[in-house]
Amino acid sequence: MFGEVLAQMPGLRERIRLQTKCGIRLNEQGLETHYDLSGDGILTRVNESLARLRTDYVDVLMLHRPDPLMDPAEVASAVRQLMAEGKVRALGVSNMSGSQIEVLQDRLGTPVVANQLEMSLLKRAWLESTVLVNHAEGTDYSFPHGTVEYCVRHGITLQAYGALAQGLYTGAPAATPSAAEEATAGLVAQLAAEKKTTGESILLGWLMRHPARIAPVIGTAKPDRIRACADAAAVAAGMTRAQWYRLWVTARGSNIP
Ligand SMILES: NC(=O)c1ccc[n+]([C@@H]2O[C@H](COP(=O)([O-])OP(=O)(O)OC[C@H]3O[C@@H](n4cnc5c(N)ncnc54)[C@H](OP(=O)(O)O)[C@@H]3O)[C@@H](O)[C@H]2O)c1
Repeated sequence: MFGEVLAQMPGLRERIRLQTKCGIRLNEQGLETHYDLSGDGILTRVNESLARLRTDYVDVLMLHRPDPLMDPAEVASAVRQLMAEGKVRALGVSNMSGSQIEVLQDRLGTPVVANQLEMSLLKRAWLESTVLVNHAEGTDYSFPHGTVEYCVRHGITLQAYGALAQGLYTGAPAATPSAAEEATAGLVAQLAAEKKTTGESILLGWLMRHPARIAPVIGTAKPDRIRACADAAAVAAGMTRAQWYRLWVTARGSNIP
């Protein structure tokens, strides 16, 4: 569908930054979900994406998940070829730890520009891991310590997927919401009213207030939902330390150590 829009609107392609991913394969070769970051896999997937998107290049190609069978030298060779052909302008990764990025980076010869991770008021492991060092509660969170810091140190943009928590706090509550979820939805609505904005912009502004300069990825294709996100940068700029912490502590349902 996106390719059709690009085809119908000449000139649009040059005015946007287009990013796509490769690496996850569904129901192929008699397998359920598996990963393929082989050199051939990367080249084939990019060429298929370009054909579907009806464009000659993507601004960012993202490796969707680490493939345990990937060979960093082979990945680097495929990426080098795609860049030399002008089909890929920059490389990103997704769901990777700092050390996994580092292993790739050693071979790549081009900087990894982004790492896409699930980050939201609901999925807080990225944040909890930064304060629960040396704390028993930290064992509840499986997030490689140092990943956020690695990305900051190397200028790798953190892209937050699931940033709206699928609407959990903004009108699409769970069937049986927890006390923390209810309280968070209430606080998000209260802050939205005080700041004359939307709950969506509060949620995204909370992420963007973090100094890692997080870039939220929004999963909706609905114009109204996209519009509801438009104040996020302004909300981030005006969010006080107290408001930021109150949102975090309310969502986690207990005080931080
Ligand atoms: N790198 C990865 O491994 C990975 C994994 C998952 C996703 N992603 C990327 O991240 C993007 C966003 O992730 P996501 O789609 O999981 O997260 P999201 O943006 O938090 O959630 C989007 C979904 O929640 C619904 N939603 C949001 N607010 C709502 C509300 N108030 N009421 C009802 N429904 C509401 C949206 O429905 P509507 O369509 O009705 O707005 C949409 O289906 C995806 O498009 C994808 O590109 C990446």
